[in-house]
Amino acid sequence: MSLLLSPGPVRVPEEVLLEQARPMITHRSKGFSELYSNICTRLKTYLNSEEVYVLTGSGTLANETNILNCCLPKEKVLVLLNGEFGDRLAEIAGIYGTLEKHSIPAGKGWDLKKAKPIIDSSDATVFAMVYNETGYGVRNNTKEIFQYAKKKGMMTIMDSVSGWPAMPFDQKEFMVDFFATASQKALGAPPGMGIVSLSRDAIERIESRDKIPSVYCNLHKHRENYQKNQQTPSTPAISIYYSLRKCLDIIDREGGIEKWAQKHKAASEYVQSRVKGMGFKLIPEPGCESWSLTAFYCDNAEEIKKAMLEKYKITIVGCKGELKGKGLRIAHMGNFQMEDLEFCLDALEKLAKK
Ligand SMILES: Cc1ncc(COP(=O)(O)O)c(C=O)c1O
Repeated sequence: MSLLLSPGPVRVPEEVLLEQARPMITHRSKGFSELYSNICTRLKTYLNSEEVYVLTGSGTLANETNILNCCLPKEKVLVLLNGEFGDRLAEIAGIYGTLEKHSIPAGKGWDLKKAKPIIDSSDATVFAMVYNETGYGVRNNTKEIFQYAKKKGMMTIMDSVSGWPAMPFDQKEFMVDFFATASQKALGAPPGMGIVSLSRDAIERIESRDKIPSVYCNLHKHRENYQKNQQTPSTPAISIYYSLRKCLDIIDREGGIEKWAQKHKAASEYVQSRVKGMGFKLIPEPGCESWSLTAFYCDNAEEIKKAMLEKYKITIVGCKGELKGKGLRIAHMGNFQMEDLEFCLDALEKLAKK
């Protein structure tokens, strides 16, 4: 078994893994209603949103759910992107709406200065972007951008699959209508749950529609089932829902959601300074470094990744897209341990010196 430091799935502690071994119950039982409402209520409080639903699926499902519930047929969606996951968000937007997309090069981050002229000149009525571009470890400065887009009257959609709760987020303050994350990243749970969180405007949009083009991802159905008996419309992967509840217990035990983000920030500063100390150049431009993973240029990325695994039993991953083979990524996401990061960096330092 290797030390897993990939940006999702992340290492899952034993107490969380064991939750999945509970005896099976039905999703139409009181036991499931209690479990599901416990998770949704706590996530809603952490996110400061109106409603939260947990779907069996992954982050992509959560993103697709948000887009198809938000976008009216042919409605124009403006997507700002800077990597593979922004591209995927744009791909989904192009299926359910009419896409307008703008991209900046790998490693560059979006801020209001770059986004404002594009938003000003667009006639799109929906705005979507990724909080943390995982492929290059770039944290977009989304708060001011989303606030601006919302104040311009747009419906707003955020992909925060690898962002929250590693990085600060308050749904009302950020003015995000449809928010998505996934279980296997900074929440620290196993893969298999896509989480959507809604604002008041998002709920109004869902309920004002004649037809939502999905059965499984139809948030009107999710709302209806939840209101009736705190259940899901179809059979959820019950075992992993237990594990998510345990992850929320861990976050609370460690001081709460804000402290959780601060823990990620401290780890990111530590990893970034050590990596730079070894002579590597970070991929994100200054001010856009992710709190949940560190991405850096490395000429012999594939060789180092292989040696990390074979010699030290550590799994780190390469970069995606145009930086494939040219960079490495180390995650500090979810239930990571500082000693593990130190062990990984010591190993990297030895390999880098060779
Ligand atoms: C920012 C971002 N969006 C979307 C996804 C897709 O999530 P999933 O693989 O859970 O479908 C990922 C996965 O790494 C991601 O990092």
